[in-house]
Amino acid sequence: MKLLVFAGSTRSGSFNRRLAREAAAMARAAGAEVTHIELGDFDVPMYNADAEAIATPPDVMKLKQVFHDHPAWIVCTPEYNASYPALLKNLLDWLSSPVRGDPVWSDDFRFSRGKVVGVLSASPGALGGLRSQSHLIPLLFNLHCWVAPQTYALGRAGDAFDPAGKLVDDRARARVQGVIDQVLHAAARLHTP
Ligand code: FNR
Repeated sequence: MKLLVFAGSTRSGSFNRRLAREAAAMARAAGAEVTHIELGDFDVPMYNADAEAIATPPDVMKLKQVFHDHPAWIVCTPEYNASYPALLKNLLDWLSSPVRGDPVWSDDFRFSRGKVVGVLSASPGALGGLRSQSHLIPLLFNLHCWVAPQTYALGRAGDAFDPAGKLVDDRARARVQGVIDQVLHAAARLHTP
């Protein structure tokens, strides 16, 4: 199963990137073919319909294809002001915007329809960014994704990783594994011809 893993943070010391790395390693160990992308590697400007009318940015076109090519995704989201960050909203707005005159990408949700998505979050706070999930999940539904019923919010993320980036608490690892297992199981059932 092809699984796309990404974090909604470009911060160098991002806890969500560390969580994404751990989830990617655990999914690989479970047999998934994992692609881990860094959103900071792509040039995605703030969405602007006037700019889009001239041309959709090349990196948005690349990301549409990458997201489309993976039947399963895991997103690790920070919490900003009890919601998810603008980085993720801007990305998903761009990706869902149809490309005018392009027969492949004229469908808003071609990149996302039917994808199985696991939602993780991490925060230094006690709730682990749980409130970001309650906003991100309806957006994923709007994109016609299937969201795994198990999610996980990693609280006190500043103490959760060892210097090598390993998630130290076995219960936390088991919760992340639970989300991965649901995503891979559902994606295999929904996407096997
Ligand atoms: C935050 N942070 C935060 N944390 C939280 O648990 N609940 C919140 O509502 C917010 N709000 C918030 C707003 C803004 C503008 C910033 C910049 C930060 C703290 C946030 O969880 C923390 O910076 C994380 O470390 C961000 O995730 P990464 O970059 O470590 O993945």
